[in-house]
Amino acid sequence: MPDDVLVAVFNADDGGLDADVWTRLRDWLQPNERERADNYADREARAAFLIGRGMARAMLSEVTGVPPAEWRFAEGAHGRPEIASPDTPYHFNLAHSHGAVACIVGRGREIGVDVEFLHRPAAAHDVAARVCAPDELDDVNAAPDGQRQERFLVYWTLKEAYLKARGLGISLHLGDVAFSLADGQPKFAPRGSLADADTRWTFRLAQPNDQHLIAVAVDTRDGTEPNIRFQRFANNRFPRA
Ligand SMILES: CC(C)(COP(=O)(O)OP(=O)(O)OC[C@H]1O[C@@H](n2cnc3c(N)ncnc32)[C@H](O)[C@@H]1OP(=O)(O)O)[C@@H](O)C(=O)NCCC(=O)NCCS
Repeated sequence: MPDDVLVAVFNADDGGLDADVWTRLRDWLQPNERERADNYADREARAAFLIGRGMARAMLSEVTGVPPAEWRFAEGAHGRPEIASPDTPYHFNLAHSHGAVACIVGRGREIGVDVEFLHRPAAAHDVAARVCAPDELDDVNAAPDGQRQERFLVYWTLKEAYLKARGLGISLHLGDVAFSLADGQPKFAPRGSLADADTRWTFRLAQPNDQHLIAVAVDTRDGTEPNIRFQRFANNRFPRA
């Protein structure tokens, strides 16, 4: 996959992890990750963590041939896990929400992914006013009843995907990480503190099932467009070795 960006989604509804896979994913972890996994009181949160780190290792292994257990991750700025070894041009990013885990893998580019559960209790109005740019807020408010929450989550996931690709935390004013949805594909329209930001980023939205929304951010500042491929990640894609 010389210039493919792969975005895989694991749906818990497709079937949970059997004990054998669970053990294997835990075995692949490095010590500090294993400690973190073991400290989750909530089984679902632990599973999301194991699956995410397992997907990253499985997908990196597929594209490089390096076995899953050999990948070492370190925390970069604002806690983003990044590849510490082996030395590689590949990057990854992860997101999880209510039974869906998304992993993006690409080569030589910054990449970010966010996934959100579409049916979470509506908190949209106040949060939207706080994190949206004026044009985004107008667009959310103009959506028909029953579609406002989803419209808001489109902007939310795009903002998160960009921040995650850049490895940034909440240091940026979220209203400045702005988008226009006018022409079908999301278009990056940074403003305010980000007014001078390079807009040569590619964004994609996808709905992997009827309950989740995914946004991905791909750095295309080098002027090339990778092939962004969405995939379902099935249990049997975790290699046995
Ligand atoms: C760190 C942050 C990106 C995590 O977001 P989240 O919604 O809680 O969780 P997600 O499911 O999207 O992502 C979690 C994964 O992102 C990765 N991650 C953690 N910190 C990250 C960072 N600074 N940048 C990129 N990825 C990060 C990790 O792989 C983590 O998975 P893990 O549990 O296996 O370690 C988030 O807390 C944050 O700072 N967001 C940006 C600002 C914000 O508040 N945005 C609001 C919406 S517009």
